[in-house]
Amino acid sequence: MFSKKTYTERRRILKEKVGKGLILFFGNDESSMNYADNTYHFRQDSNFLYYFGIQHPGLAAIIDIENDNEIIFGDDYTIDDIVFMGPKPTIAERAGLCGVANALPVAKLGEELDRFRKMGTKIHFLPLYRPEAKIRLHELLGIAPRDVSTTFSVDLVKAIVSQREIKTEEEIAQLNQAVDVTVDMHVAAMRFTKPGMTEAQVAAEIQRIALAAGGNISFPVIATKNGQTLHNHYHGNILKEGDLFLIDAGFENAMCYAGDLSSTIPVSKKFTPVQREIYQLTLDSHQAAIDAAQLNKPFKNVHIAASKTIFEGLKAMGLTKGNADDAFEAGAHALFFPCGTGHMMGLDVHDMEDLGEVWVGYEGKPKSTQFGLKSLRMAKPLQPGHVFTIEPGIYFIPELMDLWRSQNKFNEFINWEAVNKYRDFGGIRNEEDFVMTENGLQLLGKPKPKTVEEIEAIRNEFA
Ligand code: GLY
Ligand code: MN
Repeated sequence: MFSKKTYTERRRILKEKVGKGLILFFGNDESSMNYADNTYHFRQDSNFLYYFGIQHPGLAAIIDIENDNEIIFGDDYTIDDIVFMGPKPTIAERAGLCGVANALPVAKLGEELDRFRKMGTKIHFLPLYRPEAKIRLHELLGIAPRDVSTTFSVDLVKAIVSQREIKTEEEIAQLNQAVDVTVDMHVAAMRFTKPGMTEAQVAAEIQRIALAAGGNISFPVIATKNGQTLHNHYHGNILKEGDLFLIDAGFENAMCYAGDLSSTIPVSKKFTPVQREIYQLTLDSHQAAIDAAQLNKPFKNVHIAASKTIFEGLKAMGLTKGNADDAFEAGAHALFFPCGTGHMMGLDVHDMEDLGEVWVGYEGKPKSTQFGLKSLRMAKPLQPGHVFTIEPGIYFIPELMDLWRSQNKFNEFINWEAVNKYRDFGGIRNEEDFVMTENGLQLLGKPKPKTVEEIEAIRNEFA
């Protein structure tokens, strides 16, 4: 945990921003896999973590703004719990560590909320993503699960986003550490991968490093020779000479701060000439994105720069034609780059996505509905303290190629015959993590090998 002062100050600012009413937070509970006691890995809710720092299941908290009163609700371990789980601090002791003076059993939460409801106090709650939290809200406040997405407190969401989006120095230190370990995971995979291995063997090595470093993975590992499938979690293929291998994996450290990096390597010692050409273009696009990431300038510029560089590069190779500005406006680049260039990162790998991308990435303005652009998670101006990824890629997706070609879509921008020759190419992505500062963009963590020369040097030594 950070110091008591950090959490007390975060809640003080939250109270000031929300202004009035009662704020209700649910911590996450254990979630069962196949029977009650066999649970998934426990992960605390990130908003609860941010304001209270307690990594323990089954908690809730209220903040009574007018009366400046805070209570954490949770049940102390019984002797049966202690026998199976070991002794744990009491809820009151845990509350004390984050500067909350009051702790009550979970059963008291309903009584407390009823008191405020009778007084007509506005109760602010979040857009809840876990079914069990929605059921709890229904039991406590009578709000049907299907109505949570339209009745959550927009004031609370806006207040939290405005706080959590600006990372403090102590958070940047955590993020640097999380990214450093993430680099170790990627370099280990670059060295470990050999022709004849399964993707699963490499995925296991990546996860081993995360666990050994005292944390866990920040999202399920992607380690695939089918990199054209953006979030491919299948690990059953055998890697062979000539394959490209895409790795997208991150570390979540003990404080739950995330890293998120992507790398693409040849399974052989070298890229083939065609792989090298497309790989270099993804790096050019990556650099164009970095150059466009400027203080107080919209992140959408970063996406535009990456997309147009890809379109222009493919034009030089004969795969596309026409004007890159017009192609971007029309969405033709999305044949090769159907997702966004990056997202915020922090306590969540896609930071605060539970609060809604429109609030986190678009300042409440509507997102585009155009294929490709609709997947850009963030477009707003970059402020000091914003932490985000840059991860353009080039993907040859045969199903998308066949569909658009059959629809005669973008014939003015795409040379379909030339593109068709790449239908078995796969996909390439590199990803790095950055913080915006008053003095411009800064890479988080130690640099990860990414040039053709750096990657081939590692593969030569270890493949
Ligand atoms: N690293 C997974 C993603 O950014 O979606
Ligand atoms: Mn990412």
